[in-house]
Amino acid sequence: SELNLTDFPAGEIPLTPILTDMWGEDRSWTLDAYRAHGGYQGLEKAKTMEPSAVLEAVKNSGLRGRGGAGFPAGLKWSFLPPDDGLPRYLVVNADESEPGTCKDIPQIMANPHALIEGMAICSRAIRCEHAFVYLRGEVAHVYRRLLAAVREATEAGLLGDLKITAHAGAGAYICGEETALLDSLEGRRGHPRLKPPFPAAQGLFARPTVINNVETISQVAGIFKYSDNWYASMGTEKSKGHGIFSISGHVKHPGQFEAPFGITMRQLLSYCGGIRDGHELKFWAVGGSSAPIFTPNELDVPLTYEEVVSAGSMLATRAIQVFDETTSVVRVVSRWVDFYQHESCGKCTPCREGTYWMKQIMHRLEAGKGEEGDVEKLLSITSEIGGRCFCALGDAAITPVTSGIKHFREEFEKGYTTPAWELFPYKRTVVF
Ligand code: NAI
Repeated sequence: SELNLTDFPAGEIPLTPILTDMWGEDRSWTLDAYRAHGGYQGLEKAKTMEPSAVLEAVKNSGLRGRGGAGFPAGLKWSFLPPDDGLPRYLVVNADESEPGTCKDIPQIMANPHALIEGMAICSRAIRCEHAFVYLRGEVAHVYRRLLAAVREATEAGLLGDLKITAHAGAGAYICGEETALLDSLEGRRGHPRLKPPFPAAQGLFARPTVINNVETISQVAGIFKYSDNWYASMGTEKSKGHGIFSISGHVKHPGQFEAPFGITMRQLLSYCGGIRDGHELKFWAVGGSSAPIFTPNELDVPLTYEEVVSAGSMLATRAIQVFDETTSVVRVVSRWVDFYQHESCGKCTPCREGTYWMKQIMHRLEAGKGEEGDVEKLLSITSEIGGRCFCALGDAAITPVTSGIKHFREEFEKGYTTPAWELFPYKRTVVF
């Protein structure tokens, strides 16, 4: 929070601290601080509009879901069937768990009222009277902060008839998958459901439900405080607006940088002071561990949903992780595979068994005890998992393996004879 972003040499695209503008301020999470920044003006404006006009404005803004898939938010809201007088819900997905993703939790900690304001606006658009926030179980401090902010907003009479319930899960990656989240919220073990029906038709308690990520809903407040056209003027034709890029790893100043879509990694690197001194970029993850890795060749790819796909990866949650030449790709991929194996819910066989076998092979490659043909075996397992699982976790789990082998196959093959820690001796050189 002490980092003053404007101290850094500007790239061609400036940073746009809109959600993050008050992150560094004293007691930024209070209603007074939020109001001093023009908070709840968006809601006041939305209250003067018909629900259909609120929905239309969100559609016009071009806002896309910030949970990873980038599905157009207004379109998703419009999928709800006509109001039949029975309950319909808004559920905010605050189960941020993707490796490297670190935007929703800081956003709730620093600026919970933007989320609450966005929830109130969305609830007006979809005619919902009871909205939920599903939080990761581990983050008790975030839960407390959100509860306090909801209480403040309710007592100030800002929410009208809207009731907001914050629910803490038990800390499972799969509960970030929207239908597993719904199961968990209903009190069952979090397992993904078959889609369709999508939650818009049958979601929480089998009622029409909008599920959006924290950042998506928090952005809604700004769209109404300023305007949908203002929002749409940022970014590109297919990736409108701005977003939070979380940068971690071997850079001088890791952190969250808010910028319009279309900024490049080279420009973002200039904002975070570049790679740590004396080192050079080896590879980077653009969308957490679930999207194919990039190398220095992709530094100038505009970070938009469409351009990143054309370059062979996915923007997903903009969880950028930077690795310099001291890093063993095998070790990184091995840790990511450990993660997916541990987090696989076990409901479907390719994911449950496949992640287990990938983990066995990655561990022996990391230890220099790989067997001739292990790389082919790994690729064969990935082809048995890809596209055959109940939810996106299986596809995500194979991505680091396939993209790691694609760019650094020789390093994987060195695992037949040499441990990763001999090829890349681990030195604790990063000091935060
Ligand atoms: P998806 O593309 O299946 O769905 C995206 C959203 O659009 C969902 O809410 C879905 O209900 C809705 N939708 C899609 N088609 C629809 C239709 N025909 N009718 C009504 N609604 C429809 O993607 P999914 O599986 O929900 O999310 C995958 C993404 O999650 C990945 O891109 C990944 O980056 C991201 N992710 C994010 C994590 C985090 O910590 N934020 C963790 C892991 C993955």
